[in-house]
This record gives sequence, C-alpha cells and structure tokens, in this order.
Amino acid sequence: MNTESNSLVSRRELLRTGAGLLLTTALPLPGHAAGSNEYRIVAVPARARLAGAGRPETDVWAYDGTIPGSLVRLRQGEPARLVVENRLDQATTVHWHGIRLPNAMDGVPGLTQPPIKPGGSFVYEFTPPDAGTFWYHPHANSLEQLGRGLAGPVIVEERQPVIVDRDLLWFLADWRLTSEGGIASGFGNRMEAAMSGRVGNTVTLNGQVSEDEPVRAGERIRLRLVNGSLARIMALRFEGHRPLIVAIDGQPCDPHVPERHHILLGPAMRVDVMIDMQGEPGRRYGVIDDFYDGLSYLVTQLAYDGSPPVREHPLDASLDLPRNPLPEPDLAAIERHDLTLQGGMMSGMGGMQGGGMMHGMMGMVGSPTWAINGMSMSGDGHAGMEPALTFQRGRSVILTLRNETAWWHPMHFHGHSLAVLSRNGKPVPHRQWQDTVLMAPKDVVEVAFVADNPGDWMLHCHVMDHQMAGLMTVLRVA
Ligand code: C2O
Ligand code: CU
Ligand code: CU
Repeated sequence: MNTESNSLVSRRELLRTGAGLLLTTALPLPGHAAGSNEYRIVAVPARARLAGAGRPETDVWAYDGTIPGSLVRLRQGEPARLVVENRLDQATTVHWHGIRLPNAMDGVPGLTQPPIKPGGSFVYEFTPPDAGTFWYHPHANSLEQLGRGLAGPVIVEERQPVIVDRDLLWFLADWRLTSEGGIASGFGNRMEAAMSGRVGNTVTLNGQVSEDEPVRAGERIRLRLVNGSLARIMALRFEGHRPLIVAIDGQPCDPHVPERHHILLGPAMRVDVMIDMQGEPGRRYGVIDDFYDGLSYLVTQLAYDGSPPVREHPLDASLDLPRNPLPEPDLAAIERHDLTLQGGMMSGMGGMQGGGMMHGMMGMVGSPTWAINGMSMSGDGHAGMEPALTFQRGRSVILTLRNETAWWHPMHFHGHSLAVLSRNGKPVPHRQWQDTVLMAPKDVVEVAFVADNPGDWMLHCHVMDHQMAGLMTVLRVA
C-alpha cells in the first residue's frame, strides 16, 4: 500500500469502478479535500479475494468494504473527526489503537461508550498528539469482528516529512480459511484460548496473499509494518537487506538493526523500518517469517525491476524521525507496581514439559483461563469493571510485568505509551516507547510512563482469545 495521499484517491477510484462496491466510499466528508482530518467509515459485510486470483472469495466484515479498511491519514496536532457507521447485524465500536486520545473516544463498549447498534453511528473526535503508524479495529466481540476482517491502518503524518523515496505500508493479517475460502468458524475455542490463540493458515499483505512487491534498486523506502493478526506473532527477515528500525508502535526510537536480524511483531504491534534497496536489478529477495519453529514461510518477495539503481550510494538523509511529545517519567518521584500474568495450559507446573493442565482445565469447564494479579476480566469490556490499579493524574509509574505463563503475550495499554526500561534485568536500548509490549514466556519487563491521561483504560493481551478468556484488566487515572 503506497501511503501517498494521491494513491488513496486512486484506490477510491478503483473502488468506484469495482463491481457493486459503490456504497463503500472512504471519502472524507463532502466538501473536504483528501488528506483532511475528516472521514466517514462504514463497517459492512463484503467479499474479498484474500488468497489471490483464481482462489475463491471470502465473506468478510470490513471497513468500507475493503481489506484492510480504508487508510485513515491524519495530521499531527490537528483535530480529527471520524464518523463510524455500523451496517453489521451486531453492535460494534472502533478503537484507535495506540493513539493517545480522550477516554470517551477510546472505543471500549460499556467502559468508555455505548456500543454502536446495527444501523447506528458514532462520531469519534480527537486530536492526535503523536505522529506515527497506528491502526483501528473493533473492541466489541473483538475476537470474531477482527477475525472476520474489521481492521484498518492509521497514519498520523509528521509535521516535517522525512526524506525517503517511497513511504509504504504493509498491513499484515492472518486468517483461518476453509478449503472453500470461507472463514473457519469456532471462534473462542477454549483449548486454543488456553494456548497460543487462534493462529490461522493464510497471511495477507494489504488484503491479499502476496507473491512480490515491486522495488527499484537504490531507492530508500520507509516501510510501515502493522501486525493486524488475532494471534500470530511474526519475526520477519529480509533476505539480502538491512532494514533499520526507526519507530515501534508509532513512537520513534534510535535507528537500529533488529536483534538477530529479525523484526519481531506481536499482534497489534507496528514497526517502521528504513530500507535502502541495495539488491541487484531484476532479482527477487524473500521476506520470511521465521517465528514458529519449523513453520517458516514467505510473506512476499522484494522484486527488483530491471532498471539501473536510482542512485549510486544510499540516500544521504537523516534516518531519525522527529520524537513525539511524550511526557518523560520523573524517575526520582516514581511509584512502582507489579502486574503478573497467570494461567493458560501448563502454567506453573514446570513449563512446557510439565504435566499440569490444571489452569487449562479450569478453562474447559467455563471459568476464565487467564488472570492478571489473580483477577480475571473476560470478554470485551463492560461497565463497572473495577480497576486493578489507580494512579493520581500526573504520577510517574514503573510497572513490572511478569509473565508467569508458558505462552507469549503482546500486552497492550490503552491511552498511554510506555518507555520500555528493561527486559529480564537488562536495560532495553534505543529509547523504545511502546503501547504493546511482547512478552516471551517467563519474561520480566519494566515499563515507565506518566499517568497523565484521565479515565479508565483497558490493559489486555492482544491475542484476542487471551483477552476474551481473562487476560485483561483496567488501569484508572484519577
Ligand atoms: Cu488494539 Cu484494546 O486494543
Ligand atoms: Cu489500544
Ligand atoms: Cu496473551
């Protein structure tokens, strides 16, 4: 997906000429120029050719009828107005994942707004303080609604654009398709919910299985990666290339080479990389996901056209993105709290090889499978959820996150970005701020933030089955 504004227009043209999709406009409201901060977005059933030409179409639920949903492009520091219309036959909400916005705009049913009923609409209004790569998705019946396709990218533009040849976005998603091309049923399988969650069998890039993505020798690309999967974790390797991570979860960091040359992307995470295309004209280079042992697959290939390099030496421009106005925690006056993740299959019984299925079996008989600090909040969020922790507004906080389970968890915080201080006792370099912190089994991670955004904020695992089965809580900023 080319993220230039004019390509948005051409995408709309495509939509208009596409058969029967006329209702699915992603247009800014009438009378507003493309690239303004106003959008109308419709959640609607649609059909999509996920597995590529010649393969059956899939019935999906989609924003504006496209997979992924329309690109929402906003300007940093300027008020945005997003009208969401619900044409599904069940209630929904939209959560603007990673954007620090007022609590009433956060899209959590019951907790921050009434759900949007079928036929109804809701107006989201906020001013994005941070530039970067974000995304939007439902927070009602999230496992199924996200799993059937409701998700789309958000780009908040920097005030001063960085110099690159092309700014691209790859919205990655994982689907569990049947051989007829349908979305497999069985959302909320308890066994899966107690293990790695609903990992699918088909990974799409911008809504289709991708064979190759065209590039030119010598160009510098800013590539915005979004993992919009329900449960699939990715570890991307770029054959023959050296991507530099310049932002995580929308927040700029010090440009760096990814650890072990794999870009780790838990569900809901975003990573922006800069890549100088220094491969040979005419060649192809694999982009490979190596996360699951023995299950590597090709996400796509960088396909060089035959033309000579656009320049001899890599572009001589800064790789640093301008930092966002994040409040620095005051380490001298900090309060500390622990959040411990518990439960799942084989937990607390000697790890992966342990025979203990106790917690998992609890899940089998209907009680929540997961817990945070001994408490389980399950489902999607509702009124009257008691916060696990309450902070006075403006307090600096360090949270120690402990994963006592045998499973990976991308832990997501609403309303705030957090500085990741240390992992398993080792300082985390590169000044990384994140809203979604991927925790390996047994990891201990320290994060710090200023609790400056008042309201009740959800904190949950973004493996959707885990959230639904209890790996969720609420943090209150009073
Ligand atoms: Cu991306 Cu609570 O969500
Ligand atoms: Cu969020
Ligand atoms: Cu989890």
